[in-house]
Amino acid sequence: MPDSEPIIRASGLTKRFRRAVRPPGLRGALKHLVRPRYETLTAVDAIDLTIHPGESVAYVGPNGAGKSTTIKLLTGILVPSEGEVSVRGIAPWQHRIDNAFNMGVVFGQRTQLWWDIPVVESFRLLGDIYQLDAATYIRTFDDLVEVLDLQPLLAVPARQLSLGQRMRCDLAASLIHSPPILYLDEPSIGLDVSVKARFREFIRAMHRERGLTVMLTSHDLGDIEELCERMVMIDKGHIVYDGALTEITNRFGWERTLALTLSDPTPDADTIATGALDGRSGVRVTQPTDTTLTITYDGRIVTSGELIRDLAISVPMTDVDIQEPSAESIIRHLYEGTLRFDDAPGSDA
Ligand SMILES: Nc1ncnc2c1ncn2[C@@H]1O[C@H](COP(=O)(O)OP(=O)(O)OP(=O)(O)O)[C@@H](O)[C@H]1O
Ligand SMILES: [Mg+2]
Repeated sequence: MPDSEPIIRASGLTKRFRRAVRPPGLRGALKHLVRPRYETLTAVDAIDLTIHPGESVAYVGPNGAGKSTTIKLLTGILVPSEGEVSVRGIAPWQHRIDNAFNMGVVFGQRTQLWWDIPVVESFRLLGDIYQLDAATYIRTFDDLVEVLDLQPLLAVPARQLSLGQRMRCDLAASLIHSPPILYLDEPSIGLDVSVKARFREFIRAMHRERGLTVMLTSHDLGDIEELCERMVMIDKGHIVYDGALTEITNRFGWERTLALTLSDPTPDADTIATGALDGRSGVRVTQPTDTTLTITYDGRIVTSGELIRDLAISVPMTDVDIQEPSAESIIRHLYEGTLRFDDAPGSDA
């Protein structure tokens, strides 16, 4: 962990939303008019987060986990319900303008470019808003135009850009004032492979060469693995993991997979295997083909040797392969909602 002062600090940060509960149908709508009912949803629940300058953090979690809400709290778009948040020493929601100088943000779902004017005019407006002097503006602008290959797009109004073109322009717009922090919320949604690669390359370079602090939410595992060293996982508003990307397999990597190749095609091998393993807890059998069986199990409860011994007599096999989980498969489980935190050793969730 770097010994510099944190650039982002949140403690007990909480955001609750009040939502109308409306029963279905016309009756429900009328009922709601007469006696409206509301429920409170805690989107971000007492999170603690410390990020140091120059870190690149992946912020991951399933749909609705609270990622965008956190980014909005950090950018000052939302006011916290409880807790503290400071970015370079200021509370974003109390000092939105000062905070804007500290950060760039790209929301993959929407643009910050003015819709109807040529892209270059949006850049100029942003330059004015951030009070950049002409020389600084031109230097940064030329730089961004070159690396992101924006020249052919400058005269085009944002609404006429393709998604990938628009994202490149948005990324440039978010960095025109050379902020120390860049928030990326689903930046590569809908980008094709080559644009994605260029996008990542650019952010990596900014991170490496200029010490840009990056916080990224993405469902794209490539983004996460290529851009980030640290991963913070959030689920139902709670942080469930915060550590090195490479360490995650130690924390959640207890699930093992045994891939068996059968001696003969056996369509009901899964039933036979399930019978042979009867009584073993946490073991799941699937049969991808007539000649293969996949058995997932908890490496803390049972060993591969024990499973193979159980199966050897009733399921003749020619080959066995033991697969340990990759960071990728763990993140995928998280997104699919099948990662269990409750029984992970050292889990506080
Ligand atoms: N303005 C709002 N009013 C009411 N509820 C909201 C509001 N914004 C978000 N929520 C709710 O808060 C929860 C967290 O939403 P959030 O957008 O932070 O999720 P997310 O992690 O970004 O998910 P996704 O991966 O789908 O982008 C969700 O249940 C969402 O419905
Ligand atoms: Mg989101």
